[in-house]
Amino acid sequence: MKHWRVEQVSWDRFDPSKLDPEIVPLVKAAAMVERNGDDYAIYLKRVFHDDPDFQQAAENWALEEIQHGDALGRWGELADPGWDYAEAFARYRAGYKIDLNADASIRGSRTGELIARCMVETGTSSYYTALGEASEEPVLKEICRLIAADEYRHFKLFYDHMKRYLAREDLSFLRRLRVAAGRIGESEDDELAFAFHCSNEEPGIAYSHARCIAGYMGRAMNFYRFRHIERGMGMVFKAVGLEPRGRLSDLAARGAWRLLCWRRDRFRAALAQEAAPILARAA
Ligand SMILES: [Fe+2]
Ligand SMILES: [Fe+2]
Repeated sequence: MKHWRVEQVSWDRFDPSKLDPEIVPLVKAAAMVERNGDDYAIYLKRVFHDDPDFQQAAENWALEEIQHGDALGRWGELADPGWDYAEAFARYRAGYKIDLNADASIRGSRTGELIARCMVETGTSSYYTALGEASEEPVLKEICRLIAADEYRHFKLFYDHMKRYLAREDLSFLRRLRVAAGRIGESEDDELAFAFHCSNEEPGIAYSHARCIAGYMGRAMNFYRFRHIERGMGMVFKAVGLEPRGRLSDLAARGAWRLLCWRRDRFRAALAQEAAPILARAA
């Protein structure tokens, strides 16, 4: 069912002279979150317990997310030969758990759940596009291209199921908007920050959300260009039921871009001040 396999990546083209030390810690952290996809599949299958079509789709989706983690993890081990993907992920898994005992969506409805999934896929699709374009290392470029294409397909998958539930649940526009905005706001929660901690900091160092979210976002936000935000905003608009291309989405994209630049500069200032105790091995 998968569209590509880790073994098909041209690993022999890996070129250490093209490594960007700002990108390596991001790839290692992203590998954690992606690999964690199987837990989300368990949660989704519980939320959609009487929908075998969606359950099957969620299972296939999780296989692809796990593969994203494995490909990024393998690349991380090439880029930083002392790094152990499996060990880092075991730390992540032990310290970051999503609540699997759900019999209903934490978003309040199935439509809401699927809109939240659309937001995640919008974010990952834009992120891997931006990262792939910024990277000069050929293998990472290839992996990012493959993953970004998967993420876009995932968006379409959740979007199609969302439309089906929307017809049944009739969630109001404001509620859809609230779920979407809420999920976007969660990108600065522990999921990514703790992944950054487990994949880039020594086990003896205590986790600090402020330090780790700055470590992640201060780097990640640097690779976005306006075109990525513009495209992402189109996807957000589509998911909540607004016209994806038009004056309103254009205006929203400009606003989001300004917000991102402001956040980015704040995170970078924090990064510079803190001199976060990140392993310098990859540098
Ligand atoms: Fe993914
Ligand atoms: Fe995805």
